[in-house]
Amino acid sequence: MRLNSAFLACGAVSLPGVIAWGSLGHITVAYIASNFVKQETAVYFQDLLRNDTEHYLAGVATWADSIRYTKWGRFTKNFHFIDAKDDPPSYCGVDFDRDCKEDGCVVSSIQNYTSQVLDTELWPWRRNQAAKFVIHFVGDIHQPLHTENVERGGNGIHVRFDSSELNLHHVWDSSIAEKMLGGIHRKPYEAAYRWAADLTNEIRSGKYANSTEVWVDGIDLDDPIATSMKWANESNAFVCTHVLPEGPEAIVGQELAGEYYEKAAPVIEVQVARAGYRLATWLDLIVDRLSESGAPVGEL
Ligand SMILES: *[C@@H]1O[C@H](CO)[C@@H](O)[C@H](O)[C@H]1NC(C)=O
Ligand SMILES: *[C@@H]1O[C@H](CO)[C@@H](O)[C@H](O)[C@H]1NC(C)=O
Ligand SMILES: *[C@@H]1O[C@H](CO)[C@@H](O)[C@H](O)[C@H]1NC(C)=O
Ligand SMILES: *[C@@H]1O[C@H](CO)[C@@H](O)[C@H](O)[C@H]1NC(C)=O
Repeated sequence: MRLNSAFLACGAVSLPGVIAWGSLGHITVAYIASNFVKQETAVYFQDLLRNDTEHYLAGVATWADSIRYTKWGRFTKNFHFIDAKDDPPSYCGVDFDRDCKEDGCVVSSIQNYTSQVLDTELWPWRRNQAAKFVIHFVGDIHQPLHTENVERGGNGIHVRFDSSELNLHHVWDSSIAEKMLGGIHRKPYEAAYRWAADLTNEIRSGKYANSTEVWVDGIDLDDPIATSMKWANESNAFVCTHVLPEGPEAIVGQELAGEYYEKAAPVIEVQVARAGYRLATWLDLIVDRLSESGAPVGEL
């Protein structure tokens, strides 16, 4: 499928005056994680990230997007996704060897940057940067279109949402979540903070309380590839069921803010909740490992 290329240019860069795409989801994931990490983990990352407020994770959650289009950061451009060469809606599934590009993907990057956070021989600024990548990529991998090859993760699929002309990737990055919260135009941190508080309650004692064990089942710091492949594959399965349920051709030009949105919203919600809870668990495992190995935890 070939689509309007002038349109594509808009989706790829953030426009002045508009909140960076996807920031609401990333910041919410970070706030949820900070609600679930152990005290020791919070202290450790507050120190590494040089921010002793409750915003220490949220404040760096979108950093990786901010450097992605700079000259220095260009090498990270493929680290945000894994392009499954599947065939939605009839076949979904991610395969690491087939789908991870030679210069990296979100799965290899979670491994790469986790190992750097764990490596206390590295300079603190390198480990600080690595932590910011891990926080961001655990969010990205939970967005179904960050695990899909079709039209570059839907960037090349032109749709409508509440009458705006958008691409499908943007709808899943931002529009669905923004509509769920009643429209967010200026203050993503406040909106994310409140959304994270709601999802935290759902995880602690609401509709997700019986799911957390399953969410972190098999999570293994010694095998970051298998761990994040499981997350990628789970996320990608939604491409067949909710993102492109009738295939890529059928969705072109459709208005998605109606029935499509009603089905998509619970997917966005559970994916943000899972990402936040898993990120907390992952950061706890990192700090457990560092303290076992005798590294001075809480003091860099
Ligand atoms: C911590 O992060 C928040 C959010 O980015 C920021 O507003 C605040 O100034 C930071 N505090 C410090 C001490 O850096
Ligand atoms: C691992 O991270 C380093 C530091 O950012 C980067 O230079 C390197 O390209 C990454 N390696 C892979 C395979 O992604
Ligand atoms: C958790 O409980 C909800 C009802 O509150 C139910 O729909 C769901 O199937 C349960 N999930 C698991 C994993 O038991
Ligand atoms: C990945 O997901 C597909 C369905 O989307 C499933 O058939 C397959 O078993 C999954 N693979 C792994 C390794 O979980």
